[in-house]
Amino acid sequence: MRVLVTAKLSEEVLAPLRKEHDVEVNTFERPMTRDELLRGVGGVEGLLSMIMDRIDEEVLDAAPKLKMIANFGVGYDNIDIPAATSRGIWVSNTPGVLVDATADLAMALILAVARRVVEGDQMVRAQQWKAWAPFLFLGTDVSAKTLGVVGLGQIGKAVAARAKGFGMTILYHNRNRIDEREEQRLGVRYASLEELLRQSDFVSLHVSLNPQSKRLIGRDQLRMMKPSAFLINVARGPVVDEQALLEALEQGVIAGAGLDVYENEPQVTPGLRKLNNVVLLPHVGSATIETRIKMGNKAVENLLCGLRGDTPPNCLNPEARQRS
Ligand code: 8YV
Repeated sequence: MRVLVTAKLSEEVLAPLRKEHDVEVNTFERPMTRDELLRGVGGVEGLLSMIMDRIDEEVLDAAPKLKMIANFGVGYDNIDIPAATSRGIWVSNTPGVLVDATADLAMALILAVARRVVEGDQMVRAQQWKAWAPFLFLGTDVSAKTLGVVGLGQIGKAVAARAKGFGMTILYHNRNRIDEREEQRLGVRYASLEELLRQSDFVSLHVSLNPQSKRLIGRDQLRMMKPSAFLINVARGPVVDEQALLEALEQGVIAGAGLDVYENEPQVTPGLRKLNNVVLLPHVGSATIETRIKMGNKAVENLLCGLRGDTPPNCLNPEARQRS
């Protein structure tokens, strides 16, 4: 069968796919354009997509033979799942394997914003460091502070576990409160979103993007946060109203932010780049060699399974009755 892989992945990852199928890979160091994608899916049965690829009805209609989409990532807000289901196309994602890498990056952002790591680095590089001084780059303690985890899925739990090691108190908010024994085991306390925002020194977002979580954090929510608090987002940009965040940062409504994701990637609300109290990363939550290999292996495993006609292990819509 024919398979399209929309971004360059390592040959080691692609080998099992090449063994069974005719694989075409986007070898450009950039995402496929809309036109390339629409043309590329034309005769394929399998698609290994990235989160930048918007797989909507138009793309699905351009792919009459498509049976299986394996998304390279745990988030799948780029894919219209009901539209795939109604066309008999299975969709899978890559849960689990990127939990630790993404949680590590959330901690990196917490530490970076609190301890002004990027500002310090910039000063040293610019040869502007003249002398040690008692007030040079004073930051804020992370240890023993309160972390608010919004969305206690696998990644949220992994961040909580790391924060425990820093002696932090952990509040969490989730659509569904978890079992009390599980709360005790993890050492976390449930709070309403408002309570969490009012009490936390660091608020870290770990929800998936869906209609309920879109702009979950807007002007009103930012105003509930302490003026000394920091917002961390390694989930999805549209969970935060980026313009409202910019204003909150400019006006000192909150102390700072660490962002890995944005509302309109790769665009960043321009004013953010001018601020010293933000750390801006280019969506690299899962970007470690080990993790990207595991994500690739998982996507390939799902694709192979789906193309054989078996429900893939990480199928998001097993109810889809596959095209024959
Ligand atoms: C990936 C991500 O970088 O898994 C996700 O949802 O956002 C990241 O881990 C992305 O999926 C690349 O396609």
